[in-house]
Amino acid sequence: MDRVAEVADLVTVALDELLPRADGPESRLTEAMRYAALGPGKRLRPFFALEAARLFDIEERPVLRAACALECVHAYSLVHDDLPAMDDDDVRRGRPTLHRAYDEATAILAGDALQTAAFDIVLHPDTHDDPGVRCELAARLSMASGARGMAGGQMIDLLGVRDDLGGVARMQRLKTGALFTYAFEIPLIVARARDTERQALTSFAHDIGLAYQIVDDLLDVEGDEDILGKAARKDEAQGKTNFVTLLGVDAARRRVGHLADQARSHLDPFGPDADILKASVDYVLQRRN
Ligand code: IPE
Ligand code: IPE
Ligand code: MG
Ligand code: MG
Ligand code: MG
Repeated sequence: MDRVAEVADLVTVALDELLPRADGPESRLTEAMRYAALGPGKRLRPFFALEAARLFDIEERPVLRAACALECVHAYSLVHDDLPAMDDDDVRRGRPTLHRAYDEATAILAGDALQTAAFDIVLHPDTHDDPGVRCELAARLSMASGARGMAGGQMIDLLGVRDDLGGVARMQRLKTGALFTYAFEIPLIVARARDTERQALTSFAHDIGLAYQIVDDLLDVEGDEDILGKAARKDEAQGKTNFVTLLGVDAARRRVGHLADQARSHLDPFGPDADILKASVDYVLQRRN
């Protein structure tokens, strides 16, 4: 999708400016952070933040900066997810994972420092004139990233969920859904949106986030490693439980279709202004990497 590619370029340029640089030995850390964050990711969460922002009459700058912060947390989550103690992966975004390109200790530190860089960015006065808005953006990002969000979901993923669809849905809502939902919270906070708008976009976020992770799990089974840019056929081997391992490929794909229809219908109140967001649902469904 053209708009996804356009946002990816915009975000990569902004991240390059926002990420720290250093002289001396700590430059190894800042270079590792840049390797992880500036690599060829899809920047899908920033795309959702910036595209949802177009539904409101707001400035782009606060949304772009918060979207860069979100991308830093996402990059950190991938660096730690790939570590030997977690998924033990050697390839990410078509290149060696950070701990392969550098070493494990540097990867742990780069993840830590990417997380704190996210809060530096979002809390900086350049993000928004109103400190209340900056604080709310930071508080929601912290919630989405921590024990009640992404990190909590990663813990459940590692422990494994018993054969229970409700448990898998909860894990995915935390592990992937929380950061997806934050992408939509950014414009909602900046625009001080109404409850009806909040409900519509949050419902869209839940459905598209879940569909996104199920597609990721389908790609693990059916994807081509060269296109994916990461290893495939690992989830079952590593004893992971997800919708695909529980339901099988066909039923998981049907569930994605159902979530996609439901997601699009949540955007109806916005009329044609939401056409690009609606079209992005197909992009999520059809993606091959
Ligand atoms: C990968 O996220 C991890 C999941 C939550 C499925 P992305 O598919 O958004 O990864 P990049 O950022 O494009 O590499
Ligand atoms: C990771 O899910 C989600 C994160 C919070 C990083 P996966 O472990 O399935 O992501 P990939 O397949 O390695 O990208
Ligand atoms: Mg994982
Ligand atoms: Mg993984
Ligand atoms: Mg996966």
